[in-house]
Amino acid sequence: MNNYTTIRVNTSKQYDVLVCNGSLAEIGAVVANQFDKCRIAILTDDIVNSLYADTVTESLQQNGFSCVKYIFPNGERSKNINTVLGFINFLAAEQITRSDLILALGGGVVGDMAGFASAIYQRGIRYIQVPTTLLAAVDSSVGGKTAVDISAGKNLIGAFHQPSLVICDTATLETLPANILRDGYAEVIKYGVILDKKLFDILSRSTKGNPEEIIARCISIKRDVVTADEFDKGERQLLNFGHTLGHSIELLSNFTITHGEAVAKGMVIAAKLGKECGYADVVEPIKNIVEMYGFDTSCPYSAEQLYRVSLSDKKRQKEKITIVIPESVGKCILHTIPTEELLSLLNRIKL
Ligand SMILES: NC(=O)c1ccc[n+]([C@@H]2O[C@H](COP(=O)([O-])OP(=O)(O)OC[C@H]3O[C@@H](n4cnc5c(N)ncnc54)[C@H](O)[C@@H]3O)[C@@H](O)[C@H]2O)c1
Repeated sequence: MNNYTTIRVNTSKQYDVLVCNGSLAEIGAVVANQFDKCRIAILTDDIVNSLYADTVTESLQQNGFSCVKYIFPNGERSKNINTVLGFINFLAAEQITRSDLILALGGGVVGDMAGFASAIYQRGIRYIQVPTTLLAAVDSSVGGKTAVDISAGKNLIGAFHQPSLVICDTATLETLPANILRDGYAEVIKYGVILDKKLFDILSRSTKGNPEEIIARCISIKRDVVTADEFDKGERQLLNFGHTLGHSIELLSNFTITHGEAVAKGMVIAAKLGKECGYADVVEPIKNIVEMYGFDTSCPYSAEQLYRVSLSDKKRQKEKITIVIPESVGKCILHTIPTEELLSLLNRIKL
């Protein structure tokens, strides 16, 4: 077997995240190391299916697992309750039981829906995350947040349900379109700014770092944050750095600005807000690194527009809003302010 970097997550459920180049071809042996033989229901999208599902299915079958597969059209528009219901009806028709497994093969859209279906099918069944995008590898596959979108907003129906195993094959990143890979780097940079100056320095040196090392560092940070605050009551909000204003930008653009691009802009704005609040001035290093990874850091919206949309953020508490602000590169804090102060701050900085 290949050499794996292993990160153990100690939440309400303990599980391993295994990172390695080339793990999909031996995924059956990896799963057999941790689980008795059973049936595995694979959830994947059409693109990932054509690239990786055969490799995964063959390896699982060679190791004594029997597989069934449900495929849906790729993209965020599929992340809804109808797709999950379709999958759940498929699980029932295939007589998948609680001693079987669900396996999410794909990006965050696949992982969020497989996780949610696993949380509710027969009141909870075990699932394995096999992330194939950088965003899914460093973020959505770990931590147990599962969700689908409704017309009122993203991720508004969901559950906390930790996976039983995460297997990340860094070779899958090689087939990612450049813009999707870049979006993942926005989240990677975020980890550096919030908690890991060394990661920030590694990323600043070259855009061609070792993916296994970078992913493992990000997962270790997410593991630490999620272990301290599994149900998102406090410290986990640090992971929202760049996201509150990023979400507003995404919404205002009607999703023509991608999530990663919006987070990149949101991180620069958060750094400017921090400086305006009297914290350290880290605007230049943050702006420089996101530009180095190909992001445009300009903001096409006004303070009033950003403010109005950020009021609908589901993380807002009554008349207050919490923004994540860098105290320095590698250390962020939660800064809670009255909502109207956000407008005044946004008006004072150059967006
Ligand atoms: N649960 C969490 O904690 C969490 C955290 C962050 C984001 N998310 C969610 O993740 C979703 C975004 O995830 P995403 O960016 O991975 O999107 P995605 O799953 O839609 O994948 C993006 C595109 O890449 C394709 N793709 C996937 N892997 C590929 C590969 N190896 N080669 C070629 N193409 C490939 C997919 O088919 C899709 O078209 C959002 O719905 C977001 O809400 C969840």
